[in-house]
Amino acid sequence: MRLLLSLFTPLGKHVHPLKHVGFCRHLSSTAKLQNLNGFCISTPIFYVNAVPHIGHLYSAVLADFGHRYHKLKGASGTIFSTGTDEHGLKIQRAAVATGEDPQIFCDEVSKEFKRLFDRSDVVYTDFIRTTEARHKKAVKCFWEKLFNSGFIYKGHYEGWYSTSDETFLPESQVTKAVDKQGQEIKVSIDNGNLVEWTTETNYLFKLSEFQDRLSHWLESNPKSVQPSKFYSMVQGWIQGGGLKDLSVSRQRSRLEWGIPVPGDDSQTIYVWLDALINYITVCGYPDNMSGWPGINIVGKDILKFHAIYWPAFLMAAGLDPPQSIVCHSHWTMDSFKMSKSRGNVVDPFNQLKKFSSDGLRYFLLREGVLHSDGDYSERKVAKVLNVELADTLGNLLSR
Ligand code: ME8
Ligand code: MG
Repeated sequence: MRLLLSLFTPLGKHVHPLKHVGFCRHLSSTAKLQNLNGFCISTPIFYVNAVPHIGHLYSAVLADFGHRYHKLKGASGTIFSTGTDEHGLKIQRAAVATGEDPQIFCDEVSKEFKRLFDRSDVVYTDFIRTTEARHKKAVKCFWEKLFNSGFIYKGHYEGWYSTSDETFLPESQVTKAVDKQGQEIKVSIDNGNLVEWTTETNYLFKLSEFQDRLSHWLESNPKSVQPSKFYSMVQGWIQGGGLKDLSVSRQRSRLEWGIPVPGDDSQTIYVWLDALINYITVCGYPDNMSGWPGINIVGKDILKFHAIYWPAFLMAAGLDPPQSIVCHSHWTMDSFKMSKSRGNVVDPFNQLKKFSSDGLRYFLLREGVLHSDGDYSERKVAKVLNVELADTLGNLLSR
C-alpha cells in the first residue's frame, strides 16, 4: 500500500514528491505540507449497460484511498468524482433490448452504482451522470472551442467499429471469427469483441497534429502515466507513429442517444469525447474551474482513450493535460477478464455482505497489483482476511 501512496502524490506546484516516503511520515508531517486545496481525483465513469461488478468497485476503492490520503494530509476543498457514462450506441442498444425508455433505463442502473459506492464507504464528493444538464453544457462548449479553433473538420469515415468498446479499429487490429450460429464475423484481436463495418460522413478531430506535443508531454512528465509499465506502453503507441485523425461524431440516424453536434443536429457527439469531458465538468468547466489538472484512475482497457485522446483533446482546447493517469490491471476469473460482456462477473453487493465493507476494501487494496492482473476468488478473500486481519492484527489488538 505504501507503493500505492507514492502514485497519488500530487506533482508540480503542490508538494515535492520526495516528501512522501511512507504513510506514517505523511501523517506526522501534515503541518509542513503546502497547500493541497483544489486537488481532484476521479474514477472512470461507468457504462450503465449492466450493473456494477468487483472491477468497478476496485477503481472506486483505489480513488477513495487516494482521496482519503490527501484529506489526511490536510487537503480541503478537494474533488473526488465518480459517476456513470450514459450515452452511446452500447447504451442505446441495451435500453432497446429491455424495451425501456433510455433515460429511465439509465436512471435505474446509475442508481445501482451509487448504491454500491454508498454501501462500500466510497466517499465521493461528486457523482456525475453524462445525461445531466451541466455536463451537456460543458460538452457543447468544449466542442465549440475545438471546432472554432480548427481542430474539428467534416470528413468521411470508413472502418471497423466495436460497439462494446465504443471504438474504431484499424484493419490490423481485427480478425475473423465464427459466432454461435456458425456465421463468420470480425472481432477485435485485443478482446474478441464483435466489430461492424461503418461508413459515414462525420466530424473528425485532428489527432494526427498532436503526435509531437503528446511525446513532449510524456517525456517531460515521467509521472504522466503510472506505473511505469503503462508509461512505456503509451510511449510505444505514440512513438509507433501514425496517430490518425479520430472520428468524433456519428450520424444521428444511427445514434440518437447522445448529445447533438452544436450547429448540426444530423450528428451526435462521439461517446468517448462526451465521456472524457466529465473530468472537467466536475471541476466547473466551462465556468470557473478548480482542481484541474487532476489525477485520473483508469483500468488498462481504457488507457488509450485517457493517455492519447484525452490529453490531445485538452491541449486542443487550451487546457492542461491530466497531472497523472494512474492505470490498474484487471481482476480476472479463471484468468479471463471479469467483464459484463463475458458475463463472468462477481456481484460486489454479495461480497460486501459476506466480508463487510472494510474486509472487502482491505482485500482489494492488499491483493490488487496495479501492473498485473489478479484472479479473484472468495477463498482468497477469506484467507487474507483470516490470516492478516483476524489472526495477526486482531490478536495483536486483543493483547
Ligand atoms: O469503459 N478489473 O466504462 P466501463 C478491474 N464508460 N477493473 C475493471 C474491470 C476488471 N475486470 N472491469 C472494469 C468504460 N473495470 C467507459 C469509461 S471514462 C471517461 C469512460 C473498471 O463500464 C476499470 O476502471 O466499461 C475499467 O477501466 C472501467 O471499469 C471500465 O468501465
Ligand atoms: Mg468496458
